[in-house]
Amino acid sequence: MVLPADQATTEADDRSAIAAVLRLLVRPADRATTEADDRSAIAAALRPLVQPADQATIEADDGAAIAAVLRSLVRPADQATIEADDGAAIAAVLRSLVRPADQTRYRSPQRRSSSFFPEASMAFLDDYLARTPRSRALFERATGSLPGGSTRTTVYSAPYPPYAANGTGLAFTDVDGNVYRDFLGNYTSLILGHAHPAVVAAVEAQVRRGSAFGAPTATEVELAEEIRRRVPSIEHLRFTSSGTEATMFAIRAARAFTGRPLIARFDHSYHGTHDLVMAGTPGVPDAIGGLIVDLPWGDPDEIAASLSRREGELAAIIVEPVQGAGGVRAPEPGFLESLRTLCDRLGGLLIFDEIISFRIAPGGAQEVFGVRPDLTTLGKIIAGGYPLAAFGGRADVMAIFDARRDRAVSHGGTFNGNPVAAAAGLATLRELTPDVYEGLAALGARLSARLAGHIASAGLEARIVNVGSLFQVFRGEAGTAFAPGAGQPSELFLGLLLEGFYLAPRGMGAIPTVATEQDVDDLADAIARVLRTMSLAEAPTLVAQRS
Ligand SMILES: Cc1ncc(COP(=O)(O)O)c(C=O)c1O
Repeated sequence: MVLPADQATTEADDRSAIAAVLRLLVRPADRATTEADDRSAIAAALRPLVQPADQATIEADDGAAIAAVLRSLVRPADQATIEADDGAAIAAVLRSLVRPADQTRYRSPQRRSSSFFPEASMAFLDDYLARTPRSRALFERATGSLPGGSTRTTVYSAPYPPYAANGTGLAFTDVDGNVYRDFLGNYTSLILGHAHPAVVAAVEAQVRRGSAFGAPTATEVELAEEIRRRVPSIEHLRFTSSGTEATMFAIRAARAFTGRPLIARFDHSYHGTHDLVMAGTPGVPDAIGGLIVDLPWGDPDEIAASLSRREGELAAIIVEPVQGAGGVRAPEPGFLESLRTLCDRLGGLLIFDEIISFRIAPGGAQEVFGVRPDLTTLGKIIAGGYPLAAFGGRADVMAIFDARRDRAVSHGGTFNGNPVAAAAGLATLRELTPDVYEGLAALGARLSARLAGHIASAGLEARIVNVGSLFQVFRGEAGTAFAPGAGQPSELFLGLLLEGFYLAPRGMGAIPTVATEQDVDDLADAIARVLRTMSLAEAPTLVAQRS
């Protein structure tokens, strides 16, 4: 074990000290070979610490190769300081590898297996705990009032999430002062980044005029018109406060219009948290499950077969034309068209849930894939980071909400069309000209290509997909999201926090307009480093190496 006191002995350009530290990092069997002042021994000791692909490149006595490998092991900030053949820089980096936090991390194999998180690799946990004492204190305080320490299932991540303090542009800062480049953007909704000046100005102006009225405003009319200009299938629309309400009301519209009860949705879909779309989870009566059918994604014949016995009951098929939470999954050619044909044949409505996919083009995924739904739900970016969503589509369907009619479907909501959120949405959409979407898509493609290159060259078991500015990193070739078990930390998430990046713990993210090519390249490099450390941490030899 390396004590802090030993760090001082790792003097600049002192080969014996470098060798001494390396001896402590490697397996007992290798220690004897790490002789002072012996580059081949240093190279030999480094080889088992890195990926097979890199091992061959570490030639004995080659300072440049040793430096290159050390660079790949450390954070961006440290990389620039490691010059080839510079003993001082190598020593400095080795010191950073044996910080006290790392020492406890590798103290003993028993600690790993008997820890609080028995299943999780501990590669990043101790560093995270060391860097976030205020978040930890806030989390412990929060658990006294909020179950699980927060008020939203999706923002919990073990052992506790960083608590946000403030954000501007791409970055947000947590209560401990750690700064993250934010590639989640409140789950894809902050397409212009944090506190965009145009949005702040629009919100400030509206707040001074009043925050809400028991009367409609011109702002909601303008936002409705802007959305209709972008999405021809939306002839009429209504606003809600959340995406959950938007899908709930779109479904109610389909049922009221068709007079039928059954809704079909796809495997791995996410449409919010109301009863119908959460059927099968605790608190939702079993009877609700009888009103929804799960369809397999992709194969039109299997989809038709799943519905065959209940065709006459179908009110609507609801589908994310690009799945978000399900893994940023684009539709295969012909898939959305086949749903259009099926709905037309069965007399049910086709609902596109574009709450996430609306960020891929000015008119959303329906513009990109050229399929016109009967109803669409929108949320997230249409309110520029404020709580507002929408549902709309065919005028004859939406007419059921017309309060001038007898037996109109009721659609209340104290904050529907809230003028502050509507002003933020209008300001946001006005920034989103067609060239902005092209720029975002180019950044998405750049991220994918760069990370895929790292994955291939390092032989990592991972995959990245992107659809425009949306992306998802998967574990393994087959593509499993980095979904930790309940109460388990996501290594990818923690590793990226330490690198200064914020993504969804499951590996999903969205590129905002404030990100540059350099930011995207840095993200790809950081993900690769984290994946590399994760695969190192999973290697059985590591415990022995560093114990
Ligand atoms: C496709 C989709 N539909 C519906 C929702 C629910 O939206 P909200 O969280 O605003 O209720 C989400 C949220 O992530 C979503 O991604």
